[in-house]
Amino acid sequence: MKRPLVVAGNWKMNANFIDGLRLANSIFVQFSQLKENIQVILAPPAIHLHTIANIVESNPLMKVAAQNCHTHSHGAFTGEISAKMVKSTGASHVIIGHSERRKYAGESHQTLAQKVDAALASDLIPIFCCGEPLEIREANTQNDYVATQLKESLFHLPQSSFQKLIIAYEPVWAIGTGVTAEPQQAQDMHQHIRTIIADKYDSNTAESTVILYGGSCKPSNAEGLFQQPDVDGALVGGASLDSDKFIEIIKMRAYTTA
Ligand code: PGA
Repeated sequence: MKRPLVVAGNWKMNANFIDGLRLANSIFVQFSQLKENIQVILAPPAIHLHTIANIVESNPLMKVAAQNCHTHSHGAFTGEISAKMVKSTGASHVIIGHSERRKYAGESHQTLAQKVDAALASDLIPIFCCGEPLEIREANTQNDYVATQLKESLFHLPQSSFQKLIIAYEPVWAIGTGVTAEPQQAQDMHQHIRTIIADKYDSNTAESTVILYGGSCKPSNAEGLFQQPDVDGALVGGASLDSDKFIEIIKMRAYTTA
């Protein structure tokens, strides 16, 4: 099955307002010249969402994602932003379950399930992150660990809702460390994720789910990852803050076949 190719940039807590607009504009201009059939998603801090959504609006292949949303639609939750509010900025996607939020904001499987529901109820596409920490990889129990993450936060969804999601496999030991998963390790986990999805839903759903790899993805290692048949694209952190590197990764995704 031919799945969409996707490269997403997670800016995390980087780029002040003006720098963020420059970066988005530079990516928009360079990507629009490429004319490649790839979806590019920018996930800047929330303060940028509306302005960047306007910058990229004229290119239907470019989308904007929030890095988080709240479980509730509104109310007395100081400092929080709801999925409904994210949607109103012009964003179409939201990252849910990033390992940094699991770690620093203590987000549980159950909270993430509620966030997925909130996002879908507001017509946002969740980019759901999963991935194991180093000690789990060392114990070789990563398959069960990731299966639990998916089961606990996603498998309450009816098939029609699940089919809207993007999954990002991000081994925690590879995020921001410069250590990337070996292409075969990424492939093995992506294939495992498809098996779990097929067991829960069906093989069509498994085959049509977009699964991105994330964790120190950069121009020097992107090609090997994109050669893997179950790696549909990347969720890029550090390298997405440099428009030249990010465009290089987008080109690699466009030109590399499994
Ligand atoms: P990294 O981050 O590319 O800087 O490792 C990826 C991510 O956390 O999404």
